[in-house]
Amino acid sequence: MTETDRLWAMKTKLEELVCRAGDALPLGRDASQLQIQEKSGPANYVTVFDKATQQFLAEGCHALAPEALFIGEEEDAGGDGGNADTLPCCFVVDPIDGTANFIRGWRHSAVSLAYLEQGQAVIAVVYDPALRECFTAVKGAGAYVNGQQLQVSDTPCKDAVVGFGSSPYYPALRQQSIQILDKLLPQIGDVRRAGSAALDLAWLAAGRMDGFFELRLSPWDWAAGSLLVTEAGGMISDPVGAPLGYAVPKGVVAGNDQLYRLLLSCLR
Ligand code: IPD
Ligand code: CA
Repeated sequence: MTETDRLWAMKTKLEELVCRAGDALPLGRDASQLQIQEKSGPANYVTVFDKATQQFLAEGCHALAPEALFIGEEEDAGGDGGNADTLPCCFVVDPIDGTANFIRGWRHSAVSLAYLEQGQAVIAVVYDPALRECFTAVKGAGAYVNGQQLQVSDTPCKDAVVGFGSSPYYPALRQQSIQILDKLLPQIGDVRRAGSAALDLAWLAAGRMDGFFELRLSPWDWAAGSLLVTEAGGMISDPVGAPLGYAVPKGVVAGNDQLYRLLLSCLR
């Protein structure tokens, strides 16, 4: 069995697990039934479904790979914690990326799971239960949505659509995000702010948008999406062009070649 065959077989099992988790989410349910709690940072909420989904995934991942630690967004729902940069292998998971959308019945959220070996993502699964789209990638073997291979766009800057996040939990970055948009908008077609960084990166991999930036994201927001982007031929890094590390929240810049370079210049 080759290395790729081993990872592909694991990807198939993880895909099934993540899709089961996503299909159990009650999309469009009345917000009063979600048991919403506040977390640190403005407008940062968690629901009973974020925690239950993470618990389900933690159990599934531990059963599949007992040697791998499980790092998830929700501290008290089956996570092991730890720094993914220094672990031999681990999962990095956001049970619901786009919780604010989920709470409002705005059907654009995802379950996002990355499996890492020696600090590198080698398997990615991002599942959008509303559209029933499962984005997957295995390092060195391409990125796919529902079995169809993905390729980033070759749209030039002047026609590009750039997704961005406003770093909503970091008000100190608001002004800087607005200044970047001000520099960027005259040079591109338009921007989108859809509310799920994991799906922004998956859609970038699929060529539905051409670039993406956000000044601060946690590793679980971008871990799976970053492998989708690189396996679809795109670029991703921190705002100075350095590789993303998993130790602390970071700025993220991604795109097809041209948009990636334009975004780096706007963020400098
Ligand atoms: C958030 C989403 C959002 C981004 C935030 C993230 P969450 O994740 O990805 O698009 O702007 O920075 O934290 O909180 O819904 O898991
Ligand atoms: Ca989340």
